[in-house]
Amino acid sequence: MDYRASIVRWLADETGVLSEQIDDWLEIPPQPELGDFALPCFQLARSLHKAPLAIAKELAEQASVYLDRKIQVQVVGGYLNFFIDRASYISHVVTKTLKAGEQLGVSDEGEGKTVIVEFSSPNIAKPFHVGHAFTTILGHALYRLYDRLGYRVVRMNHLGDYGTQFGKLIVAYRLWGDETALQHEPINELLRIYVRFHDEAKDRPELESEARQAFRKLEAGEKAEKELWQRFKDLSLQEFSAVYQRLGVEFDNYNGESFYSDRIPEVVDLLRRQGLLVESEGAQIVPLEEYDLPPCIVIKSDGTTIYASRDLAAVLYRIERYQFFKNIYVVGSPQALHFRQVFAVLDKAGIPEAKNCVHVGFGLVKFPDRKLSTRSGDVILLSDLLNESVEKTLTTIRENAQIRQTDMSEEEMQSIAEKIGLSAVIYTFLRNSRERDIVFSWDEMLDFDGDSAPYVQYTYARARSILRKAEEAGLLSKQIESPAVLDHDDEFALAKLLDGFTEAIRRAVALNEPYILVRQVTSLARTFNKYYNSESILGTADPVVRAARLRLLQAVCLGIRTGLDLVGITAVERM
Ligand code: ARG
Repeated sequence: MDYRASIVRWLADETGVLSEQIDDWLEIPPQPELGDFALPCFQLARSLHKAPLAIAKELAEQASVYLDRKIQVQVVGGYLNFFIDRASYISHVVTKTLKAGEQLGVSDEGEGKTVIVEFSSPNIAKPFHVGHAFTTILGHALYRLYDRLGYRVVRMNHLGDYGTQFGKLIVAYRLWGDETALQHEPINELLRIYVRFHDEAKDRPELESEARQAFRKLEAGEKAEKELWQRFKDLSLQEFSAVYQRLGVEFDNYNGESFYSDRIPEVVDLLRRQGLLVESEGAQIVPLEEYDLPPCIVIKSDGTTIYASRDLAAVLYRIERYQFFKNIYVVGSPQALHFRQVFAVLDKAGIPEAKNCVHVGFGLVKFPDRKLSTRSGDVILLSDLLNESVEKTLTTIRENAQIRQTDMSEEEMQSIAEKIGLSAVIYTFLRNSRERDIVFSWDEMLDFDGDSAPYVQYTYARARSILRKAEEAGLLSKQIESPAVLDHDDEFALAKLLDGFTEAIRRAVALNEPYILVRQVTSLARTFNKYYNSESILGTADPVVRAARLRLLQAVCLGIRTGLDLVGITAVERM
């Protein structure tokens, strides 16, 4: 029986309140003594014009007559607490979970709705640093979560591939470019000549005007400039793609800033028609006092467009092309003001979709100990971070293999280290609310006992090994129904966590916060470990109980594997 659903249905009948509302009110108390579910009657008190305690008491009386016998109720203050029959609940949840299988958490609530998730969006010819790692990992997780709920998700990579800096690069390349270096390490080489440009321009200001001219030619579509720019772009993308591939990240399109540049006249037209454009010191701006924001510059005094104008054009394009339900920007919080301005301009222009544009910001990434080998000066590259994480993991795996005398081959150890090392980095970005800054600590990231990917992975591998042993011993049955014989505290806690899986995805999506699912999965792992330390599963004497425990274990594995997968982490089967 689906207890929650039965309780909600009954309460809705009794009170005349919509079941969605009841479902929203119904809590899972942190202390099990206060019930498995609890209804705070305070809000009800308002609509029913009665004291919360009186409502709770009346409901309790009705419950003794009309509610299923397997559900007990208790009144504490203004709360109505529900206690459910554990054995049948656990059996219900395990059966439900195993039936869902790989489809665990799938729902169709997003059907027919398109969500754009714009993420990663690195700048061409610039290093892919850890800030871009944050948006890449967060955006990818959000894509997977929305997708799970049935939304049609369009993944966009809004490449920074436009602007005056490309004029500089063109000039710099013509002067100092090294073709072989460009082939080998394109971004390093482009960075080198870019830095040199700035150094030399200090003494040779004419370089700046040459760069502006080169950019103008590029904008006008002149062949030589366009070809060079395209090469810079292709080579940079090649390098970015290596990281994307490693992380399993893909995009539906790479429509970067340049893609929108020739749509800017449309924006200017629209704003002009509505009388929103104002001239200020030669620039065209939209004042935004009524939004309590500084004005948004659309056209600079030299007639060129800027970042914001391209973002305005991008929204118009996305409305036309996708009729989105939501247009999400996964971009660092320092750009919050920029997005508020862009959305405000659109709102002022009477575009209703402006309300469906969402900036999903995130905090800074800090490295307190700076013990990271970097190749390019001050920036920390994602690829370096991943390499180091994998290397450190490999060392630990090697040590463990020696201690435990396992027969793992070098190849296998490397492949496991790659997965665990990457997952440690991903987990670190997703374990807390995204607005919080991240302070990198290898000790925490790779702690096999802490809130870390290695911990969850290790737990999963351990659980899988029990199942493999059970399988070898012929103890796993094909039957999906799980007998109602388990009622241990930990078993009950595991079932509740599994039961809350879809809800965790929903909440993660509602707040654009993958950490909610990450924590759910980590709790599953923790609770399983606690359980396993006190209870032998394979050694269970009663064969019926043992079978039920193994089913529960299968459900837990499914929950951990699916949960990790939904945030972009691949679980390892052994380690
Ligand atoms: N390329 C920018 C950067 O690296 C991020 C782009 C964000 N997206 C946008 N639509 N403005 O900072």
